[in-house]
Amino acid sequence: MRVLGIESSCDDTAAAVYDASAGLLANVISSQVPVHSLYGGVVPELASREHIRHVLPVVEQALSDAGSGREEIDGIAVTAGPGLIGSLLVGLCFAKSLAYSWGRPLYGTDHLEAHIFSIFLEQDVEFPFLALLVSGGHTSLFRVSGWEEVSYLGGTLDDAAGEAFDKAAKLLGLGYPGGAAIDRIAQGGDPDRFAFPRAWLAPGSADFSFSGLKTSLRVFLSTPEGKDGRVEDLAASFQEAVVDVLVGKTLEAARRERVPRIVLSGGVSANSRLRDLAGKEGSRAGIAVYFPSRALCTDNAAMVALLGERRLSAGRASGPDLNAYASSRFSR
Ligand code: KG4
Ligand code: ZN
Repeated sequence: MRVLGIESSCDDTAAAVYDASAGLLANVISSQVPVHSLYGGVVPELASREHIRHVLPVVEQALSDAGSGREEIDGIAVTAGPGLIGSLLVGLCFAKSLAYSWGRPLYGTDHLEAHIFSIFLEQDVEFPFLALLVSGGHTSLFRVSGWEEVSYLGGTLDDAAGEAFDKAAKLLGLGYPGGAAIDRIAQGGDPDRFAFPRAWLAPGSADFSFSGLKTSLRVFLSTPEGKDGRVEDLAASFQEAVVDVLVGKTLEAARRERVPRIVLSGGVSANSRLRDLAGKEGSRAGIAVYFPSRALCTDNAAMVALLGERRLSAGRASGPDLNAYASSRFSR
């Protein structure tokens, strides 16, 4: 089965074509970073307008890259949520119209599930595995026992890890979006130069908390020592605090769940230090750690098309009442 995927949950308009036998045939992304960077963050209304401008060209480009006419597309998958509601509705209405006019089945993909399964675009992973999804909007742990079996173990009580990176980058004057900038600049810094707090929470808890860490950076930057600190050391020390907790708590959860493999996904899983530490600590603990290549960590439609293909070929098409949703459907 060959599926066209469409993603518009936040500030990327993306389309991709995934074929069950030939694999990923096209993966097109139109980023809105230049629009939102003027404001230091995503402006929802501007994001919706940009999606309207870009959704058709991006889909046309994906079909052309895949060398696919509409008659070769067997189904359409679109991100239904969670995300910015106006942005989601642009992709959803577009995909619904295509499905209706082409006479093809439609599947409303969950953005979090799409990230979790994105690893399968590049490699097979045995079930069950523990999935750490770390992005701008989410920091959550799941136990994944099959393509239809995803259970939520815990998540952030306040800021998501990517949100913490973005806010820290703003405080450090590194611009938006900040995760990749911190990653880059931290490579020239000392991660042990400053001791930022780690929120481990109660023993056995699979939850996370990053808002205190962000506040502690803000307070520290107003002290004489903070004002004199090298930005490289500040970025490296902040990053170390985030990564330490992500890796420590994920490995602990894997041991608790008796699951010998972990899959990382979401924008923050592109972070060099996270990939490095998770790999090292995982091999020390006898736990295999998998992560997608960097380009597939951040938002894309390839993961939407892949999951759509799996669900549509399992006969799970969405009905005409498919609607967008803003908040995560996963909870304990
Ligand atoms: O998955 P994603 O593209 O969008 C959401 O679903 O949120 O993730 C975007 C987040 C942003 O917060 C961005 O700063 C962060 O991922 N990010 C990184 C890196 N690359 C992107 N954070 C740390 N290190 C990176 N290399
Ligand atoms: Zn995402």
